[in-house]
Amino acid sequence: MRVFITGGAGFIGSHLADYYVAAGDQVTILDNFSTGSKANIAHLDGKVTTVEGDIRNVDLVESLTKDADLVLHMAAALGVNTILESPIESISTNITGSEVVLNAATKFNKRIIIASTSEIYGKNPKQPLSETDDRVVGAPQKIRWTYSDAKAIEEAMASALHQEKKLPVTTVRLFNTVGLRQTGRYGMVVPRFVHAALKNEPITIYGDGTQSRVFCHVADAVQAIVTMAAKDSTIGDVYNVGGTGEVTIKELADQVLAVTGSQSQITYTPYSEAYPAGFEDIHRRVPDISKVKAAINWVPTKDLKQIISDIAAQ
Ligand SMILES: NC(=O)c1ccc[n+]([C@@H]2O[C@H](COP(=O)([O-])OP(=O)(O)OC[C@H]3O[C@@H](n4cnc5c(N)ncnc54)[C@H](O)[C@@H]3O)[C@@H](O)[C@H]2O)c1
Repeated sequence: MRVFITGGAGFIGSHLADYYVAAGDQVTILDNFSTGSKANIAHLDGKVTTVEGDIRNVDLVESLTKDADLVLHMAAALGVNTILESPIESISTNITGSEVVLNAATKFNKRIIIASTSEIYGKNPKQPLSETDDRVVGAPQKIRWTYSDAKAIEEAMASALHQEKKLPVTTVRLFNTVGLRQTGRYGMVVPRFVHAALKNEPITIYGDGTQSRVFCHVADAVQAIVTMAAKDSTIGDVYNVGGTGEVTIKELADQVLAVTGSQSQITYTPYSEAYPAGFEDIHRRVPDISKVKAAINWVPTKDLKQIISDIAAQ
């Protein structure tokens, strides 16, 4: 099989590339190396075709899509810092770029998986969050919400293309996914804490640490994505993919200290100092994963301790 991965030099995309290379498939990666890196795929040198370019380049995306059997659309601008620091580029990548990729898959009638996000649900207080739950988001002028808005447009476009043009698309709403190769540079909390702990530097919690999340090991997320890609019964539908075991960010910091044996101190920075004015955090975010379990018989297998020790070992 020929697999085309947009954002294949990124965190999740590179793990998907690993999976398909190991399975004997032909993998082509398109990446602009903005948040992804050559180091993430250096071990795949000679085993994958890597194209440096932008998902907004219609001719390039069409030519790579035409030659593929499966498209995995992972490229996006993400991470709190990226979104807040480069809002125009982020909106353009996430809306225009995704439109280009979806249109190319439609033009050549290719099976495609798109990576959406739990950010779709915004600040909906209902927990756990199920696929049909409402989006509750702030004003579009608050840059923080533009990632959620752009991903929602992408999902809506995918759904419309499925309905009107029979695009064989599955939408995967990933909740906080973590593991090897994820960088803390763009505001991802687990690698940021682990890297600080390993250097015995202060672990800085933004806010009061009572906000909670559920983390999913990237190996589990990849297993869910590849299983869905292989199952035509998931076409035209949307699935949450996330872990189990809600933790507060303070509990996460404590676990990072315990697993790494670090002497780091835990410190607190108010949101007003950590982020530009108007930043709103989401207090809880817990996935309801019953739909994906029922559809593909998938459950996450790795716990937070495993996630932390894998990141610490990289
Ligand atoms: N990691 C998570 O917790 C998480 C949660 C929800 C959704 N997602 C989604 O999963 C996908 C993969 O995320 P990730 O965590 O691997 O992030 P990542 O930043 O590591 O990967 C994104 C990749 O896309 C590339 N890219 C960005 N803009 C591009 C452009 N214009 N053209 C070509 N390539 C471009 C980047 O260089 C990077 O390699 C994204 O769509 C993201 O929105 C991730």
